Amino acid sequence: MPDIITEFMKKTSLPLDEPSGESQGLPQPPLAWEPGEDAELIDLPEPPAVQLAPVDLPKLIEKRRTLRRYAPDPLTLAELSYLLWATQGVKFVTPRPVTLRTVPSAGARHAFETLLLINRVEGVEPGLYHYAALQHKLAVVTREPDIAARLTAACLDQPHVSNSAVTFAWVAVAERMTWRYGLRGYRYLHLDAGHVCQNLYLAAESIGCGVCALAAFDDRAVNEVLGVDGESQFAIYFATVGRREA
Ligand SMILES: Cc1cc2nc3c(=O)[nH]c(=O)nc-3n(C[C@H](O)[C@H](O)[C@H](O)COP(=O)(O)O)c2cc1C
Repeated sequence: MPDIITEFMKKTSLPLDEPSGESQGLPQPPLAWEPGEDAELIDLPEPPAVQLAPVDLPKLIEKRRTLRRYAPDPLTLAELSYLLWATQGVKFVTPRPVTLRTVPSAGARHAFETLLLINRVEGVEPGLYHYAALQHKLAVVTREPDIAARLTAACLDQPHVSNSAVTFAWVAVAERMTWRYGLRGYRYLHLDAGHVCQNLYLAAESIGCGVCALAAFDDRAVNEVLGVDGESQFAIYFATVGRREA
């Protein structure tokens, strides 16, 4: 086994060599990125926002398949709201404070931010957006016309990144997790990401859409496109979503 892997497993095994920020009395990092004062915000319909036919969960799980080709029809804003709620929706902020969301997270650390490459959503111009989870709103990051092409290139030219209706990009804010768990938190970040994407698969399936999880990407390039430093904050997982072809 390469030394680096042995080292990672050792350094992240319990008991840890070094105390966490929390155990040293350091303040808890913010619960979420806050949109800037001059951010352009878009209201999202109140979740769950969509009228669902009764869902047969075993059937839905059986039916789920990865989908990489999508119908040209856009998603509605209500459908996008539903998918955001299902993946990162905040149900409650406790007095501690921590957020309780629609997905589980180690220690309720919820260390992800959701960025969205919007290609086809009714009433929303294409571009890169941030999901402000506490406000349940979208904040415009950039509408530069080449943003889809740049993100697709950074995802090793996987065409579904720009053929999707929406491509989700989950960014890990490491300190939110390591504050409690130290280096072991890096294991938990990757476990947490799986729950988020699985909820996206199932929620999308329930509204006639399909998803492709995506973890083959050029790390340096995606972090640059998303505007994160790649160390304290880094892209951890992507997923493309679109309507099923008839
Ligand atoms: C962690 C992970 C990473 C993946 N990365 C990619 C990817 O980069 N590109 C892609 O087209 N599919 C990707 N997939 C989708 C898998 O190829 C797909 O889930 C697998 O072929 C099984 O098919 P199914 O999801 O239809 O059951 C990924 C799936 C997972 C869980």
